[in-house]
Amino acid sequence: MVDTFEQLEEQIKDCKKCKLCNNRNHIVLDDGKRDAKIMFIGEGPGADEDAQGKPFVGKAGKLMNQAFKGLGIKREDVYITNIVKCRPPMNRNPEKDEVEACLDYLREQVMLIKPKIIVLLGNVALKTILGNEYSITSARGKWIEKKDIMYFPTFHPAALLRDETKKIYFWNDLKEVKNKLNNL
Ligand code: URA
Repeated sequence: MVDTFEQLEEQIKDCKKCKLCNNRNHIVLDDGKRDAKIMFIGEGPGADEDAQGKPFVGKAGKLMNQAFKGLGIKREDVYITNIVKCRPPMNRNPEKDEVEACLDYLREQVMLIKPKIIVLLGNVALKTILGNEYSITSARGKWIEKKDIMYFPTFHPAALLRDETKKIYFWNDLKEVKNKLNNL
């Protein structure tokens, strides 16, 4: 267990716990406010994130930024991370052993941030955190409370790039999250 983000950064900096270390350019730990009330969890870095060392800076991230901006959410006021911290090749889903190897870092992040709300972006985040029995189609847009944390699954922004009809749901979901945040 670590007490500070500096310790966590030290712990992760040469990580070789799984095969994703072989092709990475950067470990992508996080972005945003490290004492935020709200945490967004995506799947894993893509090419842009791997190149820059920051989560959600590519196309999907830009879409999320647009939604944040439109709803008056400041990206620098929220905490953003991913299930795995290194890019899976060809943007495939992270494999079970990779997720398991990386999960301790996420546990440390949650313990340091102590978020009130965790937004789960897409199926990989949802199933990893809440269990395989959940699916994004049925769970999105609903609050699920566990151990004093309010979880809120919604679509992964990359899904909106593939299917524009999902945008309105994502937008409304973030609006709901913002309302909850304002009332905390
Ligand atoms: N998709 C993710 O899940 N995370 C990122 O950081 C970028 C794209």
